[in-house]
Amino acid sequence: MLRTGIRLLALVLCVSAGGDFDWTKNEKTSFYYGTFPTGFSWGVGSSAYQTEGAWNTDGKGMSIWDVFAHKKGKISSNETGDSSCEGYYKFKDDINLMKEMKLSHYRFSVSWPRILPSGLRSEHVNEKGIRYYSDLIDLLLDSKITPVVTLYHWDLPQVLQEKYGGWQNASMVGYFNEFANLCFERFGNRVKHWITFNNPWSISVEGYETGEHAPGLRTRGSGAYKAAHHIIKAHAKVWHTYDMKWRSKQKGLIGISLTADWGEPVDVSNQRDVEAAERYIHFYLGWFATPLFHGDYPAVMKEYIGRKSGQQGLGASRLPVFSPQEKSYVRGTVDFLGLGHYTTRYVTQKNYPSGFGDSYFADRDLAELVDPKWPDPGSEWLYSVPWGFRRLLNFAQYGNPMIYVTENGVSEKTLCTDLCDDWRMQYFREYINELLKAVRDGVNVKGYTAWSLLDGFEWDEGFSERFGLYFVDFRNKNKPRFPKASVQFYKCIISSNGFPSQREVESWKRKAVETCSSSNQLLAADPLIGHMEMVTEIVVPTVCTLCILLSAVFFMFLLRRRL
Ligand code: NOJ
Repeated sequence: MLRTGIRLLALVLCVSAGGDFDWTKNEKTSFYYGTFPTGFSWGVGSSAYQTEGAWNTDGKGMSIWDVFAHKKGKISSNETGDSSCEGYYKFKDDINLMKEMKLSHYRFSVSWPRILPSGLRSEHVNEKGIRYYSDLIDLLLDSKITPVVTLYHWDLPQVLQEKYGGWQNASMVGYFNEFANLCFERFGNRVKHWITFNNPWSISVEGYETGEHAPGLRTRGSGAYKAAHHIIKAHAKVWHTYDMKWRSKQKGLIGISLTADWGEPVDVSNQRDVEAAERYIHFYLGWFATPLFHGDYPAVMKEYIGRKSGQQGLGASRLPVFSPQEKSYVRGTVDFLGLGHYTTRYVTQKNYPSGFGDSYFADRDLAELVDPKWPDPGSEWLYSVPWGFRRLLNFAQYGNPMIYVTENGVSEKTLCTDLCDDWRMQYFREYINELLKAVRDGVNVKGYTAWSLLDGFEWDEGFSERFGLYFVDFRNKNKPRFPKASVQFYKCIISSNGFPSQREVESWKRKAVETCSSSNQLLAADPLIGHMEMVTEIVVPTVCTLCILLSAVFFMFLLRRRL
């Protein structure tokens, strides 16, 4: 009753996200020296399929990612997460790494098919899987590290995909709730921070629109909206179940982790660009956040998708509709908002003609641009634009919710074996500083999670992109971990709870680089890495030079023939 009252009050008080956002106020201010509020939580993250390995061990069932990665041509170099970092076997070592970093929390995910091999609780509970997570949680707590548990980081049981079509089917709402309930029952006495879904945008768009991710479907212009609709309902159902059955005993919190890039208008004085940037964010973050905080999709999504569906001769909008009961059921079902953020785009208005066909991307009527001057050390899509982070945090005001940054970090290309990861230290220094400025702006951020503890299986990119604070030598069966310089750098931020003074912060990088040269030597002593270095330092440059020489000779030959 009281809760319902609070939810209604929150609804009355809350202003639509971005409603009073001042687009013209973009102070790209200088570095700010200061610290985070006492009790601010520092952590690192991981996910089951990206790190655990042990894909068919101890009774685990198949997930859609196991099956997808085994299909030829889906993953870069046809790699799979079969063994990945062997985190299933090495979690004790990994917790030691976290202890050394003095972390307050660790975010990991539970693999649904590891504990329910067919997806269904009624069929079989795999006690060995339960034991694995239970031991992990116990050891974390013994080490004074708070477990933050994601229930769904993309690894749906394959059986549910085959039988029902996965998130295209409304029955997933009930199955997911049963799985969540089992987790509350077995782990809820010790886990107080639950994240239902990780990055539902990616699940929907990359899984059902572009097909780059499992299950690899290309149901353009409709499948992603349908999947998202079921995910929103599934999240709400789990929140209600927890509220009714577990909250009073377990006293935990249920959140969701939404990932969004920031969209900055190309020309902030041009109203059409500003509206395009707003649409970009509403189609990204608002798609999920607006129903969960306010009970319905953003007005701009309803308007654009509805109009385009009409022009395409469809009788109804491709965007599903919430009934009045559903609206009040999904509204206010977030105890904290998890935010994942990596990068920024410039956005401008661009009309897609109705003949273009159904597509989530065309529905937005916008174009994305990047500034070639932005640094992009690793993944193709990831440009380092720290100020976008502060803008996003200020925009994401759905009634000033409690926010945890659930993911933030940067990658490097796999061939890079330099553990002195200057670019990552720079990224963390600047992004975390923008976070500090956002906290000063009044954004209610309670914690930060660096992505990720280890290099891992980077989805369709396989192992070709490394996000880890720790380098993992994947060619060695034992998957040894080596600290990159950013481990030491992040440790300094944690122990100072921010950036106390210029003198101190400047000394951190020097210290970090000193520690990483010894790790570099250790890594270089590994014969496999020696081989990799030979490839990057000798073979690749030699082949490139030869190609250039040959082209020059060929060109001269052509010129001479013409003369
Ligand atoms: C978001 C995903 O949640 C995570 O699994 C992935 O590794 C990072 N983005 C980096 O791409």
